[in-house]
Amino acid sequence: MKEQLNAMRSNATAELATVTSLSELDAVRIKYLGKKGELTAVLKQMGGLSAEERPIIGQAANDVRQYITDEIEAKTASLKMEGLNARLATESIDVSMPGKRKVLGHRHPLSIVLDEVKDIFMGMGFSIAQGPEVEWDYYNFEALNIPADHPARDTQDTFYITDKMLLRTQTSPCQIRVMETTKPPLRIIAPGRVFRSDAVDATHSPLFHQIEGLVVDEGITMAELKGTLEAFAKRLYGPETKTRFRPHHFPFTEPSCEVDISCFKCGGKGCPMCKNEGWIEILGGGMVHPQVLQNGGIDPVKYSGFAFGIGLERIVMFRFGLDDMRLLYENDIRFLEQF
Ligand code: DAH
Repeated sequence: MKEQLNAMRSNATAELATVTSLSELDAVRIKYLGKKGELTAVLKQMGGLSAEERPIIGQAANDVRQYITDEIEAKTASLKMEGLNARLATESIDVSMPGKRKVLGHRHPLSIVLDEVKDIFMGMGFSIAQGPEVEWDYYNFEALNIPADHPARDTQDTFYITDKMLLRTQTSPCQIRVMETTKPPLRIIAPGRVFRSDAVDATHSPLFHQIEGLVVDEGITMAELKGTLEAFAKRLYGPETKTRFRPHHFPFTEPSCEVDISCFKCGGKGCPMCKNEGWIEILGGGMVHPQVLQNGGIDPVKYSGFAFGIGLERIVMFRFGLDDMRLLYENDIRFLEQF
């Protein structure tokens, strides 16, 4: 029986050396180690052995089983590796290659400018936050000081899903969501899609994009708001750009402002781009209303902050001199190929 086991060991070794697939490997395993395999056949004969021989042969059988098991395991690993190597030879990834849209040579103008805006704010220490597009009335309006029946609701024709749920009309609800989950100091921008029940024309679309900004810390004043937004405007439109802060009203900021930049086309003299005004409005902002901080779970005595909202389409249109917003959504290849 010792010879039988030795033969089994060398036969298995020889067969394993010629195996080229996992299924062949399995056949070898079954042949030697299976329930009806050769090793079992040997073990069945052990009843006829003497008491001295039995443990010796038992040990030898165990050794052969262990040997064949180890060989099969090693072979499995090398077959899998060969398979991977073969696949690698045909599939290759060039990690230095840019994204697909860049390969084609074009990127959507909204993406181009959004990426620039993100870069500018990330360079000033902001991080990127997100909120849901299907939003609760509470976050979109209530928590932002716009209760039911507040006239500010009229300016944002809303797609309601139920009484309490809607498509967000602005990215401002992200302010509350961020404040609820993050302790100050916080500095975020939250870009995303917003929805209003507006008919399509050259300056309106039921779907458009905003970029919300929020900074909350101890001792934040209007000076930080002005400095930050001025730096942003200069980075986006060039160092000669002048900014103008006009008083305005938003329910969730106090005081509130709108920010204009000097027209980059005419430098402020007046031209069709700025409708002869010399200035172009690019965003709304203000100091976060104490009630809004409180709604976000932040102590308005200890902390203050500023917020702003940028209309992405607007700054894209100014940036590229577009006179019709519909160009951004029609996917006309003649338009998109220009970027
Ligand atoms: N959510 C405002 C809108 O859609 C824009 C805005 C204005 C956002 C002032 C702000 C802000 O965060 O402080 O008209």
